[in-house]
Amino acid sequence: MEASSLPLSEFPNLSVDPARLPRHVAIVMDGNGRWARVRGLNRCEGHRRGKDSVRAVVETARQLGIPYLTLFAFSNENWQRPKTEVRFLMQLFHRYLITESKRLMKRDIRVVAIGEMSRLPAAVRRVLSDTIRLTAGNRTMTVVLALSYGGRQDVVEAARRIAEAVAAGRIKPEQVDERMLQRELLTWNIPDPDLLIRTSGELRLSNFLLFQLAYTELYFTETLWPDFRERDLLRALCAYQGRTRRFGMVDDGASISLSAANQA
Ligand code: FPP
Repeated sequence: MEASSLPLSEFPNLSVDPARLPRHVAIVMDGNGRWARVRGLNRCEGHRRGKDSVRAVVETARQLGIPYLTLFAFSNENWQRPKTEVRFLMQLFHRYLITESKRLMKRDIRVVAIGEMSRLPAAVRRVLSDTIRLTAGNRTMTVVLALSYGGRQDVVEAARRIAEAVAAGRIKPEQVDERMLQRELLTWNIPDPDLLIRTSGELRLSNFLLFQLAYTELYFTETLWPDFRERDLLRALCAYQGRTRRFGMVDDGASISLSAANQA
């Protein structure tokens, strides 16, 4: 049986409450290179194996009923990696989109992308827009691929558009507020993440969804991304469900419960 199709009943001691699931889980998939290095393999083998984790996590999140999953697949900074590694990753994204499209349709999963698409190779752009178009009507789950994405750049672009609107006299400076900025971000139609997972033991945000993560619960695990499977996602969800989200308020019993937060 392939890893991505393990029934969740395989993990009875990791039961999550379906009523208190995060609406949006965002993941920094880190540790591919280290996974490969400790095995004496090329870094790219770690990425290749990381693709299997992507499939397993998408499948598990879908089975659980998590409506939004954002995967940090390639950052703006990742363009500075060796050319061979960048080329390999682009080919991997290309192949993933082609091989997964049937499965995504069968599972009613919509794919969207955030980032600077113009920097991607034409072949990746083409297959990405095909997948986005093909899956646009799917409703059960949305997978957001962050490709050539940078959180600061996202905020800067949003600020620039607002500044242009002010300069053109379409809005007044005093009308600029959080909601307006939020509407200008690449994630304008996606709820803020409730849970951020970062693998490989690194304790950083690395320029991921900086504005959107303001009240997100953070979960860090030593597990390297290529080893991150169903069990690990369930562990993260259990940890999330053990938290009380206060959104800056006091914990007096009146603070927002996880399920109420999910409705917000
Ligand atoms: C970070 O690990 C990972 C990446 C920069 C690439 C993420 C890509 C995948 C998981 C491949 C599959 C993705 C999709 C969407 C099909 P790293 O290379 O920085 O690891 P290191 O810190 O151990 O060197």
